[in-house]
Amino acid sequence: MRILSGIQPSGALHIGNYFGAIAQYIALQEGNEAFYFVADYHALTSVRDAAKMRQNVLDVLLDLLSLGLDPEKATLFVQSDVPETTELAWLLTSITPMSWLEKCVSFKDKVQQGLPAEHGLFAYPVLQAADILLYDADLVPVGQDQKQHLEITRDVAERFNRVYGGGKDVFRLPKPYILDSVAVVPGLDGQKMSKSYNNTIEIFDEPATIRKKVKRIVTDSTPVEAPKNPETCSLFALFKLFAPADELAEVERRYREGGVGYGEMKKRLGEAIIDRFASARQERAQWVAHPERVAEVRAAGAARARAAASEILSRARAACGVD
Ligand code: ADP
Ligand code: TRP
Repeated sequence: MRILSGIQPSGALHIGNYFGAIAQYIALQEGNEAFYFVADYHALTSVRDAAKMRQNVLDVLLDLLSLGLDPEKATLFVQSDVPETTELAWLLTSITPMSWLEKCVSFKDKVQQGLPAEHGLFAYPVLQAADILLYDADLVPVGQDQKQHLEITRDVAERFNRVYGGGKDVFRLPKPYILDSVAVVPGLDGQKMSKSYNNTIEIFDEPATIRKKVKRIVTDSTPVEAPKNPETCSLFALFKLFAPADELAEVERRYREGGVGYGEMKKRLGEAIIDRFASARQERAQWVAHPERVAEVRAAGAARARAAASEILSRARAACGVD
């Protein structure tokens, strides 16, 4: 199957990104034809400093490579290295009703948070549809928050096929791949972990920072001896992502019976996070020491991605007679 996903270079990657998306990228690179990219065109909606953009793009490449994304198995590239994307976005924009974009939750949320209502932010889902349709993707691994964007992508593809296909499909309809168990990873305050809420634990935070942040996780004030509900505790939800099954069962039993304290849980969670990413941290230092290898991966990925993209773009151009 063709797998495709993108991640914005809008800041350091966090544990929510890892479990919600990156872990699936890595699992799906085996036995499939996978394309993963750094969505810098999308990040233009929030990053307004050229040096910072370049640094963020490099950081996401380094993060993905050190977490186990294997450039021999998957095509890793930067979105703007494939300018065909923006051309397809225009073809799609031309047939996308405003009303579909007006109902987008992520646009409304961001404007409510105080981001200016710029056209790029409004048209963001059409650019995302172009990313996906440009590679004939079958499956798109993402977190729950991207579900609506995937629905719009399918709607746009169907409409384009209907308007221009003449009975034949121009685009393949992609499906989202969202794992229920990790669909929404909670942040330090219990809301969805997100760069925009300032409640993240970053994958490559220093161990001391990880310990400090874990201490800030919001809990209720149930005393140690009292029984607790693991299902409503974000500390437990995070622990679940890291602990082996037997340890998890032990903790869950002690939650329900009473006898587990949040202080103990925070210590265990902090160490579990540090351990899980210890080898990736070493791996990252190796890549940082060899920027030329990162540049090679980026160039090879761009060449492979462009070859796939230009074929599909030609098909789309021919379908609407701008070839
Ligand atoms: P952020 O909300 O921090 O800006 P992005 O929008 O860049 O994160 O998300 C990149 C990928 O990570 C997407 O596939 C998204 O669905 C996933 N993701 C982000 N935050 C979470 C979370 N808290 N839980 C699960 N998946 C997440
Ligand atoms: N909008 C996605 C996010 O914020 C990033 C993204 C851009 C993406 N293009 C994509 C995800 C294509 C999947 C497929 O997380």
